[in-house]
Amino acid sequence: MKPFKIRDIEINPPLILSPMAGVTDYTFRRLIKRRGGVGLVVSEFISVEGLTRHNPKSKRQMHFDEEERPFAVQIFGGRPERMAMGAEMAEEVGADILDVNCGCPAPKVVKNGGGSGLLREPAILETILKEIKKSISIPLTLKLRTGYTDASINVVDVAKMAEQCGVEHIQVHGRTREQGYKGLANWDLIRQVKEAVSIPVSGNGDITTLEYGFQKWRESGVNGILIGRGAMQNPWIFRQFDDVLNAREPYQPDVEEKKAVLLEFFGMCLEEMPELPALGKMKQLAGQFTKGLPGGAQFRQTLYHSHSVQEILDNITSYFATLAERRVYGDGLVESEADLEITSCESGMGAKG
Ligand SMILES: Cc1cc2nc3c(=O)[nH]c(=O)nc-3n(C[C@H](O)[C@H](O)[C@H](O)COP(=O)(O)O)c2cc1C
Repeated sequence: MKPFKIRDIEINPPLILSPMAGVTDYTFRRLIKRRGGVGLVVSEFISVEGLTRHNPKSKRQMHFDEEERPFAVQIFGGRPERMAMGAEMAEEVGADILDVNCGCPAPKVVKNGGGSGLLREPAILETILKEIKKSISIPLTLKLRTGYTDASINVVDVAKMAEQCGVEHIQVHGRTREQGYKGLANWDLIRQVKEAVSIPVSGNGDITTLEYGFQKWRESGVNGILIGRGAMQNPWIFRQFDDVLNAREPYQPDVEEKKAVLLEFFGMCLEEMPELPALGKMKQLAGQFTKGLPGGAQFRQTLYHSHSVQEILDNITSYFATLAERRVYGDGLVESEADLEITSCESGMGAKG
């Protein structure tokens, strides 16, 4: 569990913020990076069809700040020449690494041959990787699921092929496309990939606690780990892993700091986007962030029905004041089972890559 290199780029600590469409934008990435412990951040997946047609949204998705480095742009698509053009554009804007999405299960993406659809077409993936290698000089990396269906698991073969094409880091989310987000990620398959190639391999899937993360890391022998959903619930998770790696007590933010981070995020959203999307982002993070906290489910219900910035801020202030009071009266800072039941009725998180 040491820092590793993707060519000459040191991933230190070996902890990666996993790309999440609609989540890991410029604002969220900086929020997480500022908490410490993150060795690499990745953009949301960006459509090369959009990029190469100069779609403003796709171009905006490549925007990043120096404080984010090392920074990877992740692209998706199914057409080799478009993928090569998109990769070139990422290099032009100054990305340190170009990552290819080979995992998104969304039907719209798969229908056009991209995302996990490429796992069904390794020959096309091979052409894509070779074309990209010809068009960029920054390192090329790949993010894979384990296979298209549970009956056609091919991640080890695909990883070997990718290594032959010059890919310099493989990241494996241990689920098939068929599995979606059900069940648990298969870390034994991740271990098999690590053993089959000599480039660095990072593992991904279901890490939300230090115990589980270190267990899977050790068992699979991977160079690094990626954390996605766990970072929305706990923006300090990377710092906590890094603390343990350096023989320190894992950092524990208090209620005041949690509130401050939410407010920092809201401030960034309001500066960087119009009010309506900013409200959506605030609700998204606040919703994830309070999972597991007492009264969290009720707070989330109130939040989803808030329609203005002021209303959201008022709700946050009163929720955190209640949390602080509970602390004074010695209530445990854990969400009760009744709270968690309400959580499961809440809406899902939309299209996932
Ligand atoms: C809302 C959401 C959006 C996602 N978008 C992407 C994406 O754009 N690119 C990608 O490679 N994976 C994407 N993923 C998959 C995550 O990067 C990660 O592989 C998966 O969530 C498993 O890791 P976790 O259990 O740590 O969340 C997405 C996942 C979620 C929940």
